[in-house]
Amino acid sequence: MTRPLLIAPSILAADFARLGEEIRAVDAAGADWMHLDVMDGHFVPNISYGPDVIKAMRPHTKKFFDAHLMIAPCDPYLEAFAKAGCDQITVHVESGPHVHRSLQAIRALGKKAGVTLNPGTPVETLENVIGLVDLVLVMSVNPGFGGQKFIASAVDKISRVRALAGGRPIDIEVDGGITPDNAAQVVRAGANVLVAGSAVFKGGTQDAYRANISAIRNAGMMARGEAA
Ligand code: DX5
Ligand code: ZN
Repeated sequence: MTRPLLIAPSILAADFARLGEEIRAVDAAGADWMHLDVMDGHFVPNISYGPDVIKAMRPHTKKFFDAHLMIAPCDPYLEAFAKAGCDQITVHVESGPHVHRSLQAIRALGKKAGVTLNPGTPVETLENVIGLVDLVLVMSVNPGFGGQKFIASAVDKISRVRALAGGRPIDIEVDGGITPDNAAQVVRAGANVLVAGSAVFKGGTQDAYRANISAIRNAGMMARGEAA
C-alpha cells in the first residue's frame, strides 16, 4: 500500500531567535511533520539543540515531531527526547553501540522508531532491524549541516530500501539537499517523507514557506501520478 506523501521542514534552517513563531509559521504553511535535527558535536561536526529546546517548541504546534538524533551514544538520552514530546525518534546505525537495543528502547518508550543510513552506510545493515522500525531515513548528504548538495546515489539506495521493506508499513524518508527539482526522483524511487530545510525556509516569511512547501509537494505528487 502506498504511504502518504509528507513534507517535513527541518527546523535547523529556522531563525532560532524566533523559534516559536517559525514553527507556527511553517505549520500554517502546510508542513506535515516537524523534522528536528539533534547534533552533538561528536557524532557529527556541529551542535544544534537538545530535549529542552524541543520541549519549548512543543506547545507551538500539534504536528508530528520527527526527531533525527545525530548523537552518540544515543541510549542515555532517549527517554529525555520522548518526554520532551517527540513522536518518533530516529537513530543512526552507527550511533551505537547496539542499534537493535536502541530501537527496542524507543518502542518501549511508546514512540515510533526510525533508523538512518548515512551516504556511506550500506542498505544491508538494515536486514536485522527492519522488523523493529516504523521509518528508514536515507541521508542524501553527510549529516551535520543544512544547505549541502544532494548526493544522487541516494536515489538508488531508496529503491533498495523500499524493496527490503517489502509490504511492511514503513515510511521511507530522505534528508539533505531536497528541492522541488529532485523531489520527483526520490519519490519515484520510493521515498514518501521529504525533509527540507533550506528549500522550505528560504524567503523567511509564512507566504514564502507556503509556496516552498507546495512546490516540493507538487513535484512529489506529480511523480506519484497524483493530482497536484
Ligand atoms: C543534516 C540534517 C538535515 C538538514 C537538511 O544533517 O539532517 O535535516 O537540516 O537541510 P537541507 O534541506 O538544507 O539540506
Ligand atoms: Zn535531519
